[in-house]
Amino acid sequence: MDWKKIYKERLTTADEAVKLIKSGDRVVTGLGVGGSPALIDAMVKNHEAYRNVEVVSMLPLIKTEYMSPGMEQHFRHNSLFISAKSRQAVSDGHGDYTPCYFYRIPLLWDEDLPVDVAIIHVSPPDEHGYCSLGVSVDYTKHAAEAAKILIAQVNTHMPRTLGDSFVHVSQMHCIVAQDEPLLSPGAPSIGEVEKAIGEHCASLVKDGDCLQLGIGAIPDAVLLFLKERKDLGIHTEMFSDGVLELVKEGIINNSKKNFNPGKIIATFLIGSQAFYEFVDNNPMVSMHPVTYTNDPFIAGQNDNLVSINSCVQVDLLGQVSSETIGMTQISGVGGQVDFVRAAAVSKGGRSIIAMPSTAKGGTVSKIVPILDEGAVVTTNRCDVQYIVTEHGIANLKNRTNKERARALIEIAHPNFRAELEEAFEKRFHCK
Ligand code: COA
Repeated sequence: MDWKKIYKERLTTADEAVKLIKSGDRVVTGLGVGGSPALIDAMVKNHEAYRNVEVVSMLPLIKTEYMSPGMEQHFRHNSLFISAKSRQAVSDGHGDYTPCYFYRIPLLWDEDLPVDVAIIHVSPPDEHGYCSLGVSVDYTKHAAEAAKILIAQVNTHMPRTLGDSFVHVSQMHCIVAQDEPLLSPGAPSIGEVEKAIGEHCASLVKDGDCLQLGIGAIPDAVLLFLKERKDLGIHTEMFSDGVLELVKEGIINNSKKNFNPGKIIATFLIGSQAFYEFVDNNPMVSMHPVTYTNDPFIAGQNDNLVSINSCVQVDLLGQVSSETIGMTQISGVGGQVDFVRAAAVSKGGRSIIAMPSTAKGGTVSKIVPILDEGAVVTTNRCDVQYIVTEHGIANLKNRTNKERARALIEIAHPNFRAELEEAFEKRFHCK
């Protein structure tokens, strides 16, 4: 097969490529910074040509104009994880949310959400005609395989990540070559509360552990307190600059991993330009579809797996609500339950849900007697293990209802402990 000939023949402009999208189609785009800015722009520009195109994506961090007011007749957004950028649009009714464990999302393409068009964003082809999906392998690789039509933006700035991350030029129906730097959301700010949480979480991490860390200030704060550890490994859904620092210092070296030793395993990436350069062509980083990274029984093959994620509220029974504020869906289940369960399966594994004890400038407690009306339970009380706030660590595993409630009150903010005690007495009819 002469892939260079195919590449030339299928090369076109973004404006021409999006003409392959038809009214009523389901279009899947990459996750986070892996979405294609050139193709999404062109699709939005061509909106008059479409009626009722369903755009499915997760954590959109780049273009979201297809959710803007005025676009309702042309596009509807089906979100698999709402981001700060899409929160308002979804709550205003310009979109909807599909609850699904992250590791099962690629299966949607074979079950209830067949893909008409997949839009991918890839590195230039190698000498064999393979392009890397770079920062977004996750559900995107299977969407590319399952789509009736595959449109690719080829971008020299997309890192060529290794692993099970490649799509061949011959699979693409049309190709748009457009170079532009990937988005780098700035580093989260780490305050005193996050530092205290980070220190408590780090106290639960031992030399040789294998870590899964989410995105944001708390994971980065945990990493700050791991500088005295040795031989840490990573098997995660995503990682960012915080991990890079510990790799440079030799603290994360993956040497004690019993599963994929020597490799950082991940499914999507978000970071600085220096981070994207680090993951480019780096055999230490192995990217895989989320069906591999997040399946609890695959991830759980890592011994001593420690998962660290965050949440919105925890009730006194240890039910964890991570994706809604009351009735409003603000994010998604993501990989939280996948990794809580993976850590439970892992020999020596531990799962941590870490959060500040209060929200809204200290005016509300995140540990509550009863979850807010309409809030959903993301991680249920049978799965939950450690809950961490800046005031300490509560281990809920195998604890009774009353023991859980007592442990949680101890790590609540002091301003709210009296009312939580009162709720405890009311609930359990005892002093
Ligand atoms: N009551 C009212 N509002 C609350 C609240 C509470 N108990 N807890 C949080 N909030 C508000 C915050 O004030 C903030 O509002 P703002 O954006 O208007 O300032 C918003 O909710 C988001 O909270 P914040 O603490 O800034 O979020 P975060 O970026 O640290 O993310 C989660 C926290 C829980 C939303 C996020 O970790 C998540 O979606 N987790 C579920 C999925 C998951 O764990 N995936 C695996 C890792 S990628």
